[in-house]
Amino acid sequence: MKRPPQGRAIGVVGLGYVGIATAVSFANSGKKVVGYDVDDERMMSLKKGKAPIFEPGLSELVSRHVKNGRLSFADSVDDLIGACNVIFIAVPTPSAKDGTIDLSFLKQAAQDLGYAQSRNPGWRLFVVKSTVVPGTTMNDFAPTMAKCTGGTLGTGFSVASNPEFLAEGTMVEDALHPPRIVIGITDEKSEKLLKSIYAGFHSKVVVLSPTAAELVKYASNSMLATRVSFANEISRMAEKAGVDVYPVLDAVGMDPRIGGKFMRAGPGFGGSCFTKDIKALIAWAKASGLETSLISATLDVNDRQARHVVDLARESTGGLKGKRVALLGLSFKPDTSDTRDSRAYTIVEELLWQEATVSLYDPVAVENFRRGLPHGVADEIGGRLFFASSLKEALRGSDIAIIQCDWEEFRRTPTANWKLLKDKLVVDSRRTLDRKALARNGVRYVSVGLGLD
Ligand code: UDX
Repeated sequence: MKRPPQGRAIGVVGLGYVGIATAVSFANSGKKVVGYDVDDERMMSLKKGKAPIFEPGLSELVSRHVKNGRLSFADSVDDLIGACNVIFIAVPTPSAKDGTIDLSFLKQAAQDLGYAQSRNPGWRLFVVKSTVVPGTTMNDFAPTMAKCTGGTLGTGFSVASNPEFLAEGTMVEDALHPPRIVIGITDEKSEKLLKSIYAGFHSKVVVLSPTAAELVKYASNSMLATRVSFANEISRMAEKAGVDVYPVLDAVGMDPRIGGKFMRAGPGFGGSCFTKDIKALIAWAKASGLETSLISATLDVNDRQARHVVDLARESTGGLKGKRVALLGLSFKPDTSDTRDSRAYTIVEELLWQEATVSLYDPVAVENFRRGLPHGVADEIGGRLFFASSLKEALRGSDIAIIQCDWEEFRRTPTANWKLLKDKLVVDSRRTLDRKALARNGVRYVSVGLGLD
């Protein structure tokens, strides 16, 4: 392996989605970057210039910057520390059972980096990029670093917070062109260094304290999730009022004070961040003696919305018992194989509860979905859950279809294929299909927020 550059490179510890996207964005802006991850397989792939995960645009940038030498990888934390004066930490902070975040990876990283720092003296800045509840950088991370380095915060080393706002599918684009960069710092030296690193990004840099920066991350994700739940709650009213919620919310969003983004009604939000972050924020608020009525309601509405999609199917068929339902789209949004917290899990649970048989199909996410099913579910429910290998196979033999995720493949399928459904009914929770074309082919169309005017 090529030796990492000595001295002034940027270090990135934890090379998952966020870590790699961050590393390539720095390399792309002309900086030397050194990465490190405890996962050997991941490191081997990266050293060869191959991105170990799929994200549009990522493999090209990893390959380009490994080749031109801007992106390299260290064999140990000591090697990384020796090469860098600033280290970004992007290790996972998963949900614990009680909703709080599990800080064990961050703690481990702080210890490893702290001991490495004590062996390689000289001021360095350690930046927490992982999503952590307010106060973590100052109250957990910094004291661990101080203990392990044997140094003093501010002189021996400094800490900062720099939350990320990357969405899957557009991660590279989001990392290269962030609408704003939030840095939480405790001294001028750190501010100057971070501003110089981000100078090439031509984005507004917001300077706050580490704790305030941490809260920005949670407030942003809670706001986005709340907008989705708001849209979904209004969609239920549209159904009762007999109108279509889409043009209603489009008109609402034309008010510049409101804006039109993140207000598409559907089966609810999924993904690795929203639910996890909201649960962590609620747990943190509770521990701080606060109530979180609004943010808690966001999660309740989200859970009900996925079940409501099944109710729409039930109401349109007169009962799902013994029916076979094709559930189409298993990832939490299109163009990704990520099924974490996908609404498809809640929909499957509700369908099985209502004694339906389910035929599952997704262009890329079947394996991930299968792995994410609660242990033994597929066996326990005794042959009521099938995985189809094509859309046509899922439709053939099913009574109705529910679309959970709006894959392009569903849009492009000839309308006649939907006639394979015995009950000729599609419940399209994401407005994927052309309902007029379906109607011309004798297929009924039901959707979230689509009142029958
Ligand atoms: C989100 C945030 O956007 C990102 O800034 C943060 O760093 C991580 O969490 P991500 O989870 O990748 O990103 O996906 P996103 O595109 O935000 O969608 C989340 C969920 O909300 C998806 O299930 C999506 O289908 C749903 N959604 C989004 C809606 O149902 N309606 C909308 O209007 C927008």
